[in-house]
Amino acid sequence: MRNQVALVTGGMGGIGTAICRSLVDQGAKVVATYNRGGDHVSAQKWQRQQQEDGYHIDIAFVDVTDYNSCSRLVKGLPVDLNKIDILVNNAGVVHDMQCYKMGADAWDKVVNTNLNGTFYVTRHVINGMIDRQYGRIINISSVNGQKGQFGQVNYSASKAGIHGFTKALALEVASKGITVNTISPGYVATEMVMSVAEPVREKILAQIPVKRFGQPEEIARAVVFLAAPESSFITGSNLNINGGQY
Ligand code: CAA
Repeated sequence: MRNQVALVTGGMGGIGTAICRSLVDQGAKVVATYNRGGDHVSAQKWQRQQQEDGYHIDIAFVDVTDYNSCSRLVKGLPVDLNKIDILVNNAGVVHDMQCYKMGADAWDKVVNTNLNGTFYVTRHVINGMIDRQYGRIINISSVNGQKGQFGQVNYSASKAGIHGFTKALALEVASKGITVNTISPGYVATEMVMSVAEPVREKILAQIPVKRFGQPEEIARAVVFLAAPESSFITGSNLNINGGQY
């Protein structure tokens, strides 16, 4: 992967950070996107922290729910970073509540970010990959897009949609040197999971056969595997990394 360019959306979150660092370890030039409600100062702080840890990672703001913002992101990349070889659609949010209480705002926010965002960013990257006849697209879904989860009609629907997106796009670009795959993480010890109320979290933990939450590095390891040039015969696939939960 030396000198290949990787774009990782939601690159500053728990799983995103691990993905960025693992790709840098493989020699890739990595751009981490962030939203953070436009808090550029905190994004720069994250970047400085990575630098202090020995990881040079470029950063770029995007609102993945906005098609034009995704266009500006890709068009605005500097010349040494604008030929994207690896795209990791990782940006995602939750807004958990039971369906009978959910308003359109909670539905729209989650579906727009997780599913529409995956399409919007990919749409602005795919033509370049087709032109260069090379690409690795890795979409981060979730175990809850496969099994459903109480309190997550929005999240489960958006993550299930990613499977359909992956399989359809994989067919379209299979003959063009581009692979498209999904990773479905289970419950990983990130801020997103740790913010679930403790009693609920304890019940979830009890359902994980390996009896622990995953680590972000355990997801990043699979991203590196699928992103490698040698993984060219794997496309339209889904990789479950969930401690045996599903
Ligand atoms: N299955 C069946 N019934 C359930 C249930 C479940 N899993 N969870 C709760 N219930 C029942 C409760 O027992 C309760 O029943 P009673 O009223 O008869 O006692 C009723 O549903 C209401 O439960 P809550 O008090 O929990 O309902 P709430 O409205 O206060 O909270 C919730 C709902 C916020 C969705 C809460 O249940 C919750 O946080 N659930 C966890 C959702 C979750 O897994 N989120 C993961 C976020 S991280 C992530 O998603 C990353 C990833 O990809 C894995």
